[in-house]
Amino acid sequence: MIPVSLQKCLSQTIVSQLKYYESIGSTNDEALAWIDAEAQDFSLVIADEQTKGRGRFDRHWVTRPGSSLAFTLILKPRANERDMIPLFSPLCGIAVREAVEICLGTAVEIKWPNDVLINRKKFCGILVEASWREGDLAGVVLGIGINISRGSVPPLEFQQFPATSLEDETSRSIDRYEILKNVLLSLEHWRAKLGTSEFMKTWEDHLAFVGEQVRIEHSEKPSIIGKIKGINTQGNLVLVLDDGQEMSFEIGDVHLRPSTSTDLGGPNAG
Ligand code: BTN
Repeated sequence: MIPVSLQKCLSQTIVSQLKYYESIGSTNDEALAWIDAEAQDFSLVIADEQTKGRGRFDRHWVTRPGSSLAFTLILKPRANERDMIPLFSPLCGIAVREAVEICLGTAVEIKWPNDVLINRKKFCGILVEASWREGDLAGVVLGIGINISRGSVPPLEFQQFPATSLEDETSRSIDRYEILKNVLLSLEHWRAKLGTSEFMKTWEDHLAFVGEQVRIEHSEKPSIIGKIKGINTQGNLVLVLDDGQEMSFEIGDVHLRPSTSTDLGGPNAG
């Protein structure tokens, strides 16, 4: 049964269709299947527990019952959005950042391209996937996992990047569906500004580690260390290397790490 408090929050958004599950494998998998069955734009899949939640780079994403927000929003990109698919990931980061700051009054940063951090610790992961049908874009799914209570944080040995929950970072009471509502309202707002200078500036203004040394890791190339300068007009991350040379990185198959960490790659890793 759909919780009444969830229904109430969603009635204040433009969510067109809803699927709610007490337990499911992955909300992204369900959303991808729903696109094939003609889901409408702004349809939502949400689950209290995921048993096969997926993260970026084929990692597991653990969602224990009652501990988190785990949901996937389906978008059917409009003609003018089709050249901007890579920007749907930062769109989610911008929306979660804004929603959490509105609800909890806490400073929130975005680790390029889209992890969301409080006090330099990750509390939200984002997995955006496109669905293609006969070479045509059928839809995009925006999968968002937010750690709400302490029980949602993976054990330390599985944390590559320090992880946290909203409960760990605020003394305010947290209503997870109120946060969901604000994320959805922000997604609607920033989607209309996708790729504009205001969108890019907002993303860059809240970027973590600017001016700090980081390491960019690629599965098939040597790591590169440099200081973050910002984001260019395409949304690529710009680093300044030790010799003063600038290098940019596309959103995709790269990891960004503070320059001292090592990758353990466990569940909910960064
Ligand atoms: C990451 O940081 O690696 C991305 C994690 C994305 C997790 C969310 S939870 C809701 C949605 N369903 C999934 O299976 N994954 C995403």
